[in-house]
Amino acid sequence: MRKPFVAGNWKMHGSKAFILNLVTGLNAKSSELKGVDVAICPPSLYIDFTKRSLSTEVIAIGAQNMAEEPHQGAFTGEGSASMLKDLGCRYVILGHSERRAIYGETNSEVANKVQVALDAGITPILCVGETLEERESGIMESIISEQLDAVLGLVGIAAFKGVVIAYEPVWAIGTGVTASPEQAQEVHAFIRAKLSGLDENIAAGVVIQYGGSVKPNNAKELFGQPDIDGGLIGGASLDADDFIAICKAAEI
Ligand code: 13P
Repeated sequence: MRKPFVAGNWKMHGSKAFILNLVTGLNAKSSELKGVDVAICPPSLYIDFTKRSLSTEVIAIGAQNMAEEPHQGAFTGEGSASMLKDLGCRYVILGHSERRAIYGETNSEVANKVQVALDAGITPILCVGETLEERESGIMESIISEQLDAVLGLVGIAAFKGVVIAYEPVWAIGTGVTASPEQAQEVHAFIRAKLSGLDENIAAGVVIQYGGSVKPNNAKELFGQPDIDGGLIGGASLDADDFIAICKAAEI
């Protein structure tokens, strides 16, 4: 049985005052969370501040990105996996479509980062997903396959015991257009079947989150699909009440 997992991706939002207010709201409601794993992923600059503001063990901390280089060194502006670990991060989002599209991250860089995160003892949240053009031109499955194959080829299927996958259709991110539960389920099932071809047990245990305009009013139906194991939440994770409501919608 997979335990649902909901993570908040705050993206590049916040200030100390904003985060203190948000985390105070999360602290107050954290005792309501049962039967769901929950994490919040602040901007790197605020990871330590956020962690110190949290008064509950129920909500874990994750990062939104990290360096590809496995060791500390002369990499100006970067932050390493060991630094994230040192700050108390349990998760790191890797290969988010914004990093792929805006910063040109390739499948092979994402794969290297997944390896580095695993080596550091951090659980990667590996994002995959297609653009609208890719969906409409019928290459959605091959795009998602390529994104997964790059990682599988480097770390191997056995390592997916420690990997979370987030399916985020690019056209549903920040647009208010959600994939329908059926559309999302179809891709989640495709991803699980692909992994199942390599190792049935691992595939059955891998948590696959859905991300893209998840809100309190659509979360339950999405999370109710058989292969959707929670969500990666952008905009709605910046509101404590909305985020907790979404987490509760994933509870088993
Ligand atoms: P929204 O929930 O704002 O659509 O963002 C989804 C996302 O990109 C989470 O990583």
